[in-house]
Amino acid sequence: MNFQLTEEQLAVQAAARDFAQSELWAGVIERDEHQKFPTEQVKKMGELGFLGMMVSPEYGGGGMDTVSYVLAMEEISKVDASCSVIMSVNNSLVCWGLEKYGTEEQKQKYLTKLTTGEMIGAFALSEPEAGSDATSQSTTAEDMGDYYLLNGTKNWITNGSSASVYLVIAQTDPAKKHRGINAIIVERDTPGFVVGPKENKLGIRGSDTHSLMFTDVKVPKENRIGEDGFGFKFAMQVLAGGRIGIAAQALGIASGAYELAVKYSKERKAFGVPISQHQAIQFKLADMATNIDAARLLCLQAAHDKDAGMDYAKSGAMAKLFASKVAMDTAVEAVQVHGGYGFVKEFHVERMMRDAKITQIYEGTSEIQKIVISREILK
Ligand code: CAA
Repeated sequence: MNFQLTEEQLAVQAAARDFAQSELWAGVIERDEHQKFPTEQVKKMGELGFLGMMVSPEYGGGGMDTVSYVLAMEEISKVDASCSVIMSVNNSLVCWGLEKYGTEEQKQKYLTKLTTGEMIGAFALSEPEAGSDATSQSTTAEDMGDYYLLNGTKNWITNGSSASVYLVIAQTDPAKKHRGINAIIVERDTPGFVVGPKENKLGIRGSDTHSLMFTDVKVPKENRIGEDGFGFKFAMQVLAGGRIGIAAQALGIASGAYELAVKYSKERKAFGVPISQHQAIQFKLADMATNIDAARLLCLQAAHDKDAGMDYAKSGAMAKLFASKVAMDTAVEAVQVHGGYGFVKEFHVERMMRDAKITQIYEGTSEIQKIVISREILK
């Protein structure tokens, strides 16, 4: 692995940092407090190319590598993890899957709009009874000849109401178990498709998370992604890459909280000196910095593996497992460094602590990452 970033990667990192600092800081507390979807900010992300970073320019994407994507995710997550989860789902779970496995018609119809932000995408796998146990899909996509008939409910869907395109994972042939599952593109205004109320979440409150209900929803056969029965493998492959994005999100939350803790520790005085001069604080900062660097290396390793065409299921899961723990630990310690000020909204770190938790849950809990890693070790 080359530890030196290229000029292009550095430029992407600088552009993302500049965008996050100038466009996201200002309203982030308000968006969190009122669970306000960042409509304007997402539009700008589309204009700047952050919504389809790895997609070929032929389809309106940035044609960038995964390393650049990780760098941009970190910068945006440092400031607003709600914006970065919207970005991550659109890039990793929707655009990547469509570009890799979609038909040319699907790419022209959806991908070209998803990369620019004209459309936002959602990925619908989780169900009330199928979270970690993703093969137990009860949403059905009955094969009706030239169309599928969708029935069922999906839960915890990021971009649930803001999306116009949904990649829905559903069971077509229960006898074939996970080999009878399909991934189907469903448009927002399809009759019988209803978006449920918004979830009132602990963190990433600017992003919109909803359940989705399908009642006799007719979807043309040409909306299926890949061969009949490919849906579960599609979901697993998409999630393997998605985990690199969420790892980078966790890294960003950690480095954002750390930077605020360093700044505050130099400003705040106690016992006659800035608290940064107390060893109790110095030890915390040293632990945070070391963990963050280790998390960043794992994220870049996973991104490198993906860019090099190597298997990245294990390195992506390792990056997510470790970076999400670092996010949680660092945010808690950043609150501690701030003392009472860390407990109020103006200082941002309490939000980062709330946002950090989801990185240990979505796109596979930490326990799921350990299953993925250990299976790769033992196979
Ligand atoms: N690439 C390709 N195929 C894969 C794969 C991968 N990375 N991982 C597994 N598969 C294939 C297997 O080869 C197997 O296929 P065959 O039987 O044909 O050989 C098939 O998938 C089933 O695999 P397993 O037997 O390993 O399946 P399992 O039931 O034991 O479960 C699991 C494996 C890792 C636990 C999986 O269910 C899983 O990842 N669960 C977590 C799901 C998850 O991450 N949900 C998050 C929802 S999306 C989200 O959070 C988005 C958001 O809002 C931000």
